[in-house]
Amino acid sequence: MLQGKVILVTGAGGAIGSAVAKLLAAQGAAVLANDYGSNVEGIGKGQNAGLEETAKAIRDAGGRCEVDMGSVAESGAAAAMVARAVQAFGRLDAAVNVAGIMGYTGTRDLSESEWRRYIDVNLTGAFLVSQAAVLQFTAQGSGGALVHFTSNAGLVGSFSYPHYAASKAGMAGMSRTLASELLKDGIRSNCIAPFALTRMHDHMPQGMGPGARDALAEYRADAPAPLVGYLCSDAGTHVTGQIFTVMNDAIHVMSQPRPVRTAYSTDGWTAETIAERAMPMLAGGFSPIEPLSNIFSRK
Ligand SMILES: NC(=O)c1ccc[n+]([C@@H]2O[C@H](COP(=O)([O-])OP(=O)(O)OC[C@H]3O[C@@H](n4cnc5c(N)ncnc54)[C@H](O)[C@@H]3O)[C@@H](O)[C@H]2O)c1
Repeated sequence: MLQGKVILVTGAGGAIGSAVAKLLAAQGAAVLANDYGSNVEGIGKGQNAGLEETAKAIRDAGGRCEVDMGSVAESGAAAAMVARAVQAFGRLDAAVNVAGIMGYTGTRDLSESEWRRYIDVNLTGAFLVSQAAVLQFTAQGSGGALVHFTSNAGLVGSFSYPHYAASKAGMAGMSRTLASELLKDGIRSNCIAPFALTRMHDHMPQGMGPGARDALAEYRADAPAPLVGYLCSDAGTHVTGQIFTVMNDAIHVMSQPRPVRTAYSTDGWTAETIAERAMPMLAGGFSPIEPLSNIFSRK
């Protein structure tokens, strides 16, 4: 489905990104595979051999792949990736933001520099890659596809890691706006929230609940890849601004924030009348604070 397409995949040395890059190449795309090779918390460089393994697997299977080891968070790195893809393969048709970092620090212990590192890599990095790709689509006079790996930690919320949650929720807001802004140009933008036991869960704290890590073990890192393939293909050109969650063979399309109940008053509200009349009615529309396992068992 991707014959003749050129696709940039960041984080292609990691568990999910490697599977994505391999599937795209198997579907006929030429792949520019990027990975900085940091540890799971975004520290260090060249610490995993995943990128070279991904490229080798693609080439051994007869596919086309070039590698790049820039950091998505560094100024100029995204433009260099796109330039590299164009130099090697002549054009760019899609960019897939898989690169990401993860940590479990809670609010009381989170330093400002840690907060900024997560926003820099997960959110700013995804924006810079998207922007560089959009500039290339525009120069080509073509449409294009953007796919961003968000997380239910940000969409639904989780009881730790506000830095990670904020960066991933930010990707969803960014994607929705890119979809609106670029609709008329045939450039689409969608998010995927995956579930997979990867190195991201190596240091899962006890507080996440008994069996939380075991519950993830059944989810395969290669499960989201076919949806990425579809979204980058010409078959998916009418799909934009959406958020999907992939749990093995289940693909969920997610709701997005909309008003669910509204309190009106002809003479305005006071704190007292809100307490007396508005809130008892609005409360029927509240979303409870609950674990992800409750939400995904209510399909
Ligand atoms: N595994 C899950 O259950 C899960 C759930 C929700 C979201 N996600 C998201 O899916 C994506 C892939 O996660 P994964 O589980 O495969 O983890 P992973 O750690 O195996 O892969 C992430 C990759 O991103 C790379 N990376 C980190 N910083 C980078 C940078 N600055 N520039 C370029 N590359 C960089 C890492 O080197 C790593 O190879 C991440 O964005 C993650 O937040 C994963």
